[in-house]
Amino acid sequence: MSNMTSFSLLSRILHWMMAIMILGMLFVGVFMASTVGPEYHRLMTLHRPLGIAILLLAVVRLANRLCSPPPLLSAELPSTMRFAANASHISLYALMIAMPLVGWGMLSAGGYPIPLWGQSMLLPPILPHNPVLWARLRATHTVLAFLLFGLVLLHISAALFHRLILRDGVLQSMLTRKSRCDGALDSDRMSGR
Ligand code: HEM
Ligand code: HEM
Repeated sequence: MSNMTSFSLLSRILHWMMAIMILGMLFVGVFMASTVGPEYHRLMTLHRPLGIAILLLAVVRLANRLCSPPPLLSAELPSTMRFAANASHISLYALMIAMPLVGWGMLSAGGYPIPLWGQSMLLPPILPHNPVLWARLRATHTVLAFLLFGLVLLHISAALFHRLILRDGVLQSMLTRKSRCDGALDSDRMSGR
């Protein structure tokens, strides 16, 4: 069990950097899928390396989380809320890893070359050429993108709920070195306890 009260600097840097990258990828993906011509290729040239960078950073982040466990949520929170927080974090990790793998697998099954940077650096195919598999993975990529977007919206709502209603220092622990205890004391002071 962890007795830390704030996220480590590396956890915070990874969290905010990846939040910007993932939100960017969701919008780039939607614009890309609804465009044709040179604009489509420009967005695709951005989508592939950014997606692979998210995959690599997600692995680093998972390892970092195992080495430096996150602060515990307050024991005063109902167990259903703590369960929901843990389940949503696990699902976010699963999607951060599954989305790029499905994208990479989709292009492999479609038999497309997968340039990462310019035309010289190609990613190897991870699946055999198979048009039926390509179609399934193409649909899966869209469904997972909707799921990820929905979860991120719920996650942001939960962060704002902690900040504005519970005032328990959870958002501060992801923003600064300020501990959750300090946040809880702030909230006690505000409520006159
Ligand atoms: C976290 C990582 C990723 C996110 C959030 C993401 C998100 C998206 C979204 C939202 C779409 C549009 C879906 C639709 O409107 O149907 C899309 C399409 C696509 N993505 Fe990704 N993606 C990621 C990683 C990747 C990777 C790593 C690759 C390939 C190496 C990839 C390849 C594609 C392709 C080929 C399309 C279809 C474009 C088309 O319609 O022609 N994606 N992605
Ligand atoms: C694509 C966007 C985002 C993703 C994928 C994401 C993912 C995650 C994950 C996996 C965690 C668990 C801690 C960890 O292992 O790093 C977490 C924690 C947290 N995130 Fe995000 N996040 C995103 C955006 C945001 C935004 C925009 C906010 C603020 C409005 C936010 C606030 C927080 C807070 C306060 C925590 C700590 C929650 C706790 O300890 O229970 N996140 N986030």
